[in-house]
Amino acid sequence: MTAEKVLQLSELEQDTAVRVEVGGVAISVVLDGQGEVHAIGDTCTHGDISLADGFVEGETLECWAHGSAFSLRTGRPLNLPAYEPVPVYEVTIDGDDILIDPAVTKAVN
Ligand code: FES
Repeated sequence: MTAEKVLQLSELEQDTAVRVEVGGVAISVVLDGQGEVHAIGDTCTHGDISLADGFVEGETLECWAHGSAFSLRTGRPLNLPAYEPVPVYEVTIDGDDILIDPAVTKAVN
């Protein structure tokens, strides 16, 4: 699969997550307070909850259901009850277009 256009930069609001589906994969796209765009798996690893319905806090996206905050950089939850990470996807910006390939995840340290 190749990277697909999922949104335009102008459609994102700072510190707000937007849920997109690319190739059947649900992804949360977030424009952080520094103007950087992140893409992480949208489904919380603790329950079947869309993380895009949660809250952006700094460099985390917090699940509204039980409060696990997932790092936008590593996908790791920083607190319980979730303990498994969500995937982190490479984001390509082309002009105003945001492209994501759901088959390409970032290596996480
Ligand atoms: S469903 Fe996300 S923390 Fe419980």
